[in-house]
Amino acid sequence: MSGASLTELKHFFTQLTYLAAAGLFVFSLRWLNHPKTARRGVLAGVAGMTAAIAGTLLHPEIVNYTWIIVALMLGTLIGVPLSWVPLTAVPQRTALSHAFGGLAAGLVGTAKYVLWHGEGALTHYRAAVIIIEVILGYLTFTGSLMAAGKLQEVIPTRPITYRNQNVINLTLFTLALGIGLYLVACPSQWQLFPPVIALSLIFGVLLILPIGGADMPTVISLLNSYAGLSAVAMGFLLDNKLLVIAGALDGSSGLILSIIMCKAMNRSFRNVLFGAFGQVQTSSAAGPQKTAKSGTAQDAADLLESSSRVVIIPGYGMAVAQAQHRVREIYDQLTKRGIDVRFAIHPVAGRMPGHMNVLLAEAELPYESLLEMDEVNPDLPQADVALVVGANDVVNPAARHDKASPIYGMPIIDADRAKSVIAIKRSMNPGFAGIDNELYCGDNTLMVFGDAKAVLGEIAKALSGQSGIH
Ligand code: TAP
Repeated sequence: MSGASLTELKHFFTQLTYLAAAGLFVFSLRWLNHPKTARRGVLAGVAGMTAAIAGTLLHPEIVNYTWIIVALMLGTLIGVPLSWVPLTAVPQRTALSHAFGGLAAGLVGTAKYVLWHGEGALTHYRAAVIIIEVILGYLTFTGSLMAAGKLQEVIPTRPITYRNQNVINLTLFTLALGIGLYLVACPSQWQLFPPVIALSLIFGVLLILPIGGADMPTVISLLNSYAGLSAVAMGFLLDNKLLVIAGALDGSSGLILSIIMCKAMNRSFRNVLFGAFGQVQTSSAAGPQKTAKSGTAQDAADLLESSSRVVIIPGYGMAVAQAQHRVREIYDQLTKRGIDVRFAIHPVAGRMPGHMNVLLAEAELPYESLLEMDEVNPDLPQADVALVVGANDVVNPAARHDKASPIYGMPIIDADRAKSVIAIKRSMNPGFAGIDNELYCGDNTLMVFGDAKAVLGEIAKALSGQSGIH
């Protein structure tokens, strides 16, 4: 086979694998929409990425594989340990992935600028695409590192604010954009390129500084969308259609997810980005403080056993305690007695989208008993028991009536409207929003204090008649 026809064949296979990868990415997103097909969605995503890498390695312009192999080994060395993190640390792990994505886009843009500048091949179009890629890439890099740091609590999770913060941030961004525009008009003015990089890196840090830990998952999703957009720019730069498609999917899905999360928290983008939400507050309601009624696991088991409809509301505490398998035991015990058991899933329960679904699916609970907030709320007044497992903000009735509360207007699961409430948590401490929850002091609420896994284990034992608790 001649050199020319081999090159054509390689090009054909590259384009073919890119087409297959693009299709797999679209199906992956579709399948990830439902727990039943989510596993298939993950496999499709992995297959798509493998095809994309294989297709790229066949690229006819590659003449030396040494540095590519070094980069693959380095990536594997970093990537494998990243996959070992516990489920509760997935948001910060995701933020780190976005940071690497942003850095890669920024570095590719920088390399192309240097290369084309040296060759005198920097057109206005190329300079424009590079500027978009570099600004978005580098701000995603430092912004995502900051987000990961806040979630891991290596930097303070509370919003860090100072005077004229928004003005300073806006000035920095406008400056980066202004210099970038000048570079598009005069691409050979290379001295102005490093300041664009520096301003973007600083802007990423300052953008995240005033945002509180509770808003980080929304911000990470937004940074995901920036990383996607910088990949789109990179796709145009490298004339790589797969990068354009994958980047557009990434960018739009990140934005849609941020919007869904904002809606579920009744927040606006402006409020998330500039609202400095997440400052710890001691109490939301004024007036006489009521006390909570506490009971034992046996009391809870008796209440559950005498009911005919139970709604289980899991929250972040279930994830921390890894109590999903104990929840499954309770579910089995109750359904065995003919009791109707459903799960009420709040869209922002836990610390990442789908957090509760993933945990309950791991415990192999039937998908059809997992109901979304809007589906389950009308049923709650008929429920005999609402069993709240480590959930706090997502069942806080203040969101419905207390205009002074930072979560006022956030849609909640109406646990308080059930005939009785059993709430399992370790103390009366607040949840992520940092506010008290009047649900725990309600006349129909029984608090069972302790680690969710331990308490649920005791309830399961009591239900199976093996308990020594009285
Ligand atoms: P939270 O309001 O954070 O409350 C979790 C509760 O779990 C805490 O009050 C804690 O009380 C309890 N807990 C912790 N460890 C426990 C353990 N080992 N055993 C038993 N209980 C334990 O959780 P939520 O109701 O799921 O609400 C989620 C919050 O995160 C909301 O404010 C939401 O807006 C925010 N948020 C979520 C997302 C996503 S996508 N999920 C995104 C952005 C923001 P004790 O310390 O007393 O045990």
